[in-house]
Amino acid sequence: MSVKRWIKICLNHVLRRYGGEIVPTEILYEWQRVRVNKPCWNNCTLPDDAARYLKPDNPKLIELQQRYRAFDSDVTTPLVWTDRHVRPEDITYFRGDNAWVWQVRGKNSNVLGYALSLYYLKSIDRLRLLDKLVEDNSFGNFTFTVAGRQVSRDLLDSIAEIYFLDQHLGVGSRAGFRVLDVGAGYGRLAHRMVSALPGIERFFCTDAVAVSTFVSDYYLRFRGVEKALVIPLDEIDNTLRDHPVDLAINIHSFSECRTQAIKWWARLLSKHRVKNLMVVPNAVGGTGERLLTRGGHDFLPLLERYGYRTVLKEPKFIDPVVQKYGLEPSWHHLLELRTY
Ligand SMILES: C[S@@+](CC[C@H](N)C(=O)[O-])C[C@H]1O[C@@H](n2cnc3c(N)ncnc32)[C@H](O)[C@@H]1O
Repeated sequence: MSVKRWIKICLNHVLRRYGGEIVPTEILYEWQRVRVNKPCWNNCTLPDDAARYLKPDNPKLIELQQRYRAFDSDVTTPLVWTDRHVRPEDITYFRGDNAWVWQVRGKNSNVLGYALSLYYLKSIDRLRLLDKLVEDNSFGNFTFTVAGRQVSRDLLDSIAEIYFLDQHLGVGSRAGFRVLDVGAGYGRLAHRMVSALPGIERFFCTDAVAVSTFVSDYYLRFRGVEKALVIPLDEIDNTLRDHPVDLAINIHSFSECRTQAIKWWARLLSKHRVKNLMVVPNAVGGTGERLLTRGGHDFLPLLERYGYRTVLKEPKFIDPVVQKYGLEPSWHHLLELRTY
């Protein structure tokens, strides 16, 4: 055995204990070769008013923060969404790679993962969503050009979620359908669902984090999707009393909440007889097949306590190979309120 080979075996022996291994550079893809600090947002131009408006000292944001601070701490006390979770620059470049949507730092978040996911979605795209929904790099969004299209995690995840809802609740063909998104981030899915599905009558977005309410309110007005409305946390109870909804959605949000907060939301949804609840958890410690918080707490029993039971759950990508190598694999869960 050559000395070089012997040294490699010895080094690998040590490195494997720490999850590492020496491999030849030529078997790596270029994005795996050098660990560079990835940028947080993509090069983009901002609309004229955006840089002025989307600031931590905007009086509207400050007012929302005061209102949320005065609200029920059961729902507002953060698990991960502390004041430092969103940086000042994330407010301006809210569609960058940040706490709202990881784009280039999550599992398989490389050009191959994006390409595989796009081709998978193309293969199931009976509603022609890839033609109806277009993408751009506004507000720092990362896009990859694949098959002549600009694609992003915003676009691909939204299409996967819409197909799940169409498959199991027929949202593509229903009229007068009303939706509530709890923990709606910057309004990603509201923008996509309202743009794609004419049968959506109303899409409410709400959140227990003031900066998310602030940014989503701006973004949905920017996109001009009038059927999507942002409801501040302290108005959501009255809104649901006056405007019942058919479906609540919670995507990568309950996983980032304390159990008290999840309980608060489950009680609210149950009180207002929201029939269906779609949950996409973070893939905590694995796959996303279980409903876990970032603290490892199983929150399904909490939802069950308020009458919700799992009707079905399935991988984000039905094809197991795509589920393994596609963009940010997780699971889609559908729950129903028991008395229906
Ligand atoms: C990772 S982001 C996901 C955003 C959005 N659902 C999406 O998929 O694009 C998590 C969201 O959960 C919200 N959130 C955090 N704590 C919350 C709580 N206690 N109640 C409701 N939403 C919360 C955050 O403000 C943020 O909008």
